[in-house]
Amino acid sequence: MNVKKVMVIGAGQMGSGIAQVCAMAGYDVILHDMKQEFLDRGIGIITKNLSRQVEKGRITEVEMTTILSRISQSLDLQNASSVDLVIEAAVENMEIKTKLFAQLDEIAPQDTILATNTSSLPITEIAAATKRPEKVIGMHFMNPVPVMKLVEIIRGLATADEVYQTIEELTKTLNKVPVEVNDFPGFVSNRILMPMINEAIYTLYEGVATKEAIDEVMKLGMNHPMGPLTLADFIGLDTCLYIMETLHEGFGDDKYRPCPLLRKYVKAGWLGKKSGRGFYTYE
Ligand code: CAA
Repeated sequence: MNVKKVMVIGAGQMGSGIAQVCAMAGYDVILHDMKQEFLDRGIGIITKNLSRQVEKGRITEVEMTTILSRISQSLDLQNASSVDLVIEAAVENMEIKTKLFAQLDEIAPQDTILATNTSSLPITEIAAATKRPEKVIGMHFMNPVPVMKLVEIIRGLATADEVYQTIEELTKTLNKVPVEVNDFPGFVSNRILMPMINEAIYTLYEGVATKEAIDEVMKLGMNHPMGPLTLADFIGLDTCLYIMETLHEGFGDDKYRPCPLLRKYVKAGWLGKKSGRGFYTYE
């Protein structure tokens, strides 16, 4: 399977990063979202990232212009009719994703691969909303996408080997490292990361230490680039809660019970960096 043209659905933090790395690797990209203001914001993030690369002398002004020229914008899902691969990075909501995949299945050519950047939802269930489950796969990028090397590639129950291989090869062309994972709640990354973050929140909740102390222990003691509470703010506390709930529901084991303090923060609208306040406050 030869992929030349990619549609990225969702121009948020993850979608814009995915569009950027695809365009940098030479793919033609259609960045799709529901509102022009979302597209403007996404293109703004990409332009800022590329400008920083120019300032650092890693790419030239001309290369930046070429990369940006490979990205076209879309407000109409019908544009999926011209692409070889769709990477969906819309909101983490099963109903929205299954509806989207059913629509894409109608619009995209028969050979088009439909990938999802979901961080924990079952690929097999998303695939079941289409008539091409063998062409549905998970491509889980990490935040910030332009910096992080990993892409977790998740095989749904029906994903074809040929599709897996195409996506594995494509991931390498993005200068990322693909890691193969099977379809279980949270895959590997969030099954391990989120309980650690949740435990850090319990540690704060139970008064074992201050937030700064908890983060310092993990940064200096375990060499993590960010402490778990800072990382939770960076990921978004709503996303952390959603993933913990997916693990709790998926495994039915109370070891995945979201910390009440996490629920309280999300209810308060303290969602982390994006809302200006989480465990820490942001300008
Ligand atoms: N977008 C693009 N580039 C960014 C960026 C962003 N949002 N944030 C930082 N960078 C770049 C900087 O420009 C800098 O690039 P150069 O080296 O080329 O100059 C580089 O990253 C390092 O940045 P800084 O020196 O400013 O800061 P840092 O050394 O603390 O690194 C970090 C920042 C890479 C984010 C680092 O703190 C880190 O690795 N944090 C942990 C990130 C992580 O765990 N991500 C996974 C989250 S989980 C997830 O994504 C999956 C999920 O489903 C929830």
